[in-house]
Amino acid sequence: MLVTGGAGFIAANFIHHLLRSTPYEVVSLDALTYAGNPANLKDVMAHERLSFVHGDIRNVDLVAEVIQDCDVIVNAAAESHVEKSIEEGGSEFVTTNVEGTQILLDAIRRKPVERFILISSSEVYGTAESDPMDEAHPLNPRSPYAATKAGADRLAYSYYVTYDLPITIVRPFNNYGPRQHPEKVIPRFITQALQDLPLTIHGDGHASRDWLYVDDDAEAIEAIIAAPLERVAGEVLNVATGVDISVNEIAERVLDALGKPQDLRAHVPERLGQVDRHIGSTEKTERLTGWRARTSFDEGLARTIEWYRDNEAWWREVLARPSGVAGASSS
Ligand SMILES: NC(=O)c1ccc[n+]([C@@H]2O[C@H](COP(=O)([O-])OP(=O)(O)OC[C@H]3O[C@@H](n4cnc5c(N)ncnc54)[C@H](O)[C@@H]3O)[C@@H](O)[C@H]2O)c1
Repeated sequence: MLVTGGAGFIAANFIHHLLRSTPYEVVSLDALTYAGNPANLKDVMAHERLSFVHGDIRNVDLVAEVIQDCDVIVNAAAESHVEKSIEEGGSEFVTTNVEGTQILLDAIRRKPVERFILISSSEVYGTAESDPMDEAHPLNPRSPYAATKAGADRLAYSYYVTYDLPITIVRPFNNYGPRQHPEKVIPRFITQALQDLPLTIHGDGHASRDWLYVDDDAEAIEAIIAAPLERVAGEVLNVATGVDISVNEIAERVLDALGKPQDLRAHVPERLGQVDRHIGSTEKTERLTGWRARTSFDEGLARTIEWYRDNEAWWREVLARPSGVAGASSS
């Protein structure tokens, strides 16, 4: 299985899951951008079923070479930070998220595979127009990041329709858990609280998301790959919990869990292109694959806090990089 973006948050946790719980031989292709962290795979780098290729999904020749022996591709490589796409513009987002996906899709036209999973995002929906948001919810991406994810998502669908390729489009909601860059809201709150720094909240903090523990996401991706092809080919599948929690409430819970005062919460102006509310429908994915999230938010948050407490060297090293934290964000 090729897992692109393996040094990033979701794919690194997914690779740990694959090596722990499945017999897959895994190859990861990762360009090691500011978001890619080799430390995320350090404990498994020498594993006999893992190989790591340092390279870019936009490199046509390299992609053709890497997929030669692959049966399954999970494309998780992306520019993933909403805030960065708003502050710095969409250029890298378009080339990695859209063109990178197109290069992988063209590669599987030449070298067929059994499955191609595109990790899209719930951000493609924009703010919830219905509760919960199912896969037929309109696509109203509200940030350059979200628009490039929507582009890749529909491009993958078009390759399924046009070329009859075994493609499934997966739309995870907001993941959290170990190994997530502290630019994202939950690890940012945890690391800010651990340092007695203010927890910066956009606007009044009412924006809510459907928070998915990253190990549950890994199990969902595995379940989608294991489902009969005729059931999931060409389908869009949410990976969600069906519960939403506001950013404000998360700040409160993090401070409580760490025994810090609530007045560490600091409000900053609302984010441009803010998505108000996200809550995902879990019905289709459960019906087609049997998967359902197993980790409650309380349990997932406790495990995440424990991981950041135990891995201070990991997050201090990330924060010390020039691009440590690109400001406050809700996703
Ligand atoms: N984090 C979330 O809550 C969330 C939710 C829904 C969907 N997603 C999607 O899941 C995927 C993984 O997200 P994440 O949060 O783990 O991201 P991340 O930023 O932690 O990791 C991205 C990885 O991709 C690599 N990468 C970037 N550009 C590359 C390129 N051109 N070629 C090869 N590798 C490249 C980076 O080095 C990094 O290791 C992304 O596609 C993202 O859009 C994330």
